[in-house]
Amino acid sequence: MTVETAKKKVILSGIQSSGALTLGSYIGAIRNWVELSEEYDCYYCIVDMHAITVRQDPETLRRNTLEQLAQYVAAGLDPKRNVLFVQSHVPSHAQLGWVLGCYAMFGELSRMTQFKEKSAKNAGNINAGLFTYPVLMAADILLYQADLVPVGDDQRQHLEITRDIAMRFNGIYGETFKIPEAHIPKLGARVMDLQSPGNKMSKSEAASGGCVGIMDKPEDIMRAFKRAVTDSGSEVRFDPETKPGVSNLMQIYAVCANKTLPEVEREFSGRGYGDFKRSVGEAVIETLRPIREDASRLAGDRALLAEICADGAERASLAAERTLRNVYDKLGFVLK
Ligand code: TRP
Repeated sequence: MTVETAKKKVILSGIQSSGALTLGSYIGAIRNWVELSEEYDCYYCIVDMHAITVRQDPETLRRNTLEQLAQYVAAGLDPKRNVLFVQSHVPSHAQLGWVLGCYAMFGELSRMTQFKEKSAKNAGNINAGLFTYPVLMAADILLYQADLVPVGDDQRQHLEITRDIAMRFNGIYGETFKIPEAHIPKLGARVMDLQSPGNKMSKSEAASGGCVGIMDKPEDIMRAFKRAVTDSGSEVRFDPETKPGVSNLMQIYAVCANKTLPEVEREFSGRGYGDFKRSVGEAVIETLRPIREDASRLAGDRALLAEICADGAERASLAAERTLRNVYDKLGFVLK
């Protein structure tokens, strides 16, 4: 008999392919994903099916999806160590999504903050996909029997509903799904918009100049940081309540320059905001430079990207189909 190594815990996470990755998704998500891949069995997807809950231009979506894969790899996610895949390549997501929709309640879906916010923003297109978005996300997670789901803290509620749906299903049919936990990073859990630090940095707000993309040119990044909103004071001190802009910049700097918040406070004591903002801009530019260069090179190699996604889809399907088959069996579907 061969000695098997203990089964590693499973991680799953995903980001929508609705535009180039932002500094927020790099700091809040991908940097941590890279670290987690040392210790866990990791599935990282590009959720193109979630992206179409708001209108997308087809050519742009296709390009964004492939470029996002290039950005994942450039940011340090090794496609051999991790399963990197495109959600629409693994049909089990849509299939389990339908099933779970029959175990998710209209009332609980109506209470989702993200649904309410997105409906307010897209008043002309409050489609059913936007409403059942959390159900598809639950399918993403539960298919892989994920133990941990690294997400930003705006996604806590979606994790809660995933757990509720899974427990409800398990309650009826017996142990079927692992109940996943959110894994929220301590530092940089939520990178805020540089222009309105009360809101999360988001691609949909790119026009205001408050969002930095990981593929942005150095001069654009510097401009965004120089223009970043601070406050009427002059002290670089971490206090998200009264100094949200400065505190956000401090977090970004701490991560990019690999320093602690007290170290950052000390470094800039008595130096004023102008100096501070320039330093944050430089640290971000240097952090992103190698990623941007690698990502643009990789994005040009469409054959390699196609190979990476085919391999990822195959490995993801293996795990996903096992769960789906078990679910179908428990439901009473005739297995083929
Ligand atoms: N809803 C997530 C977000 O907007 C994206 C997402 C879709 C996701 N499916 C997922 C995140 C599964 C983690 C796990 O950030």
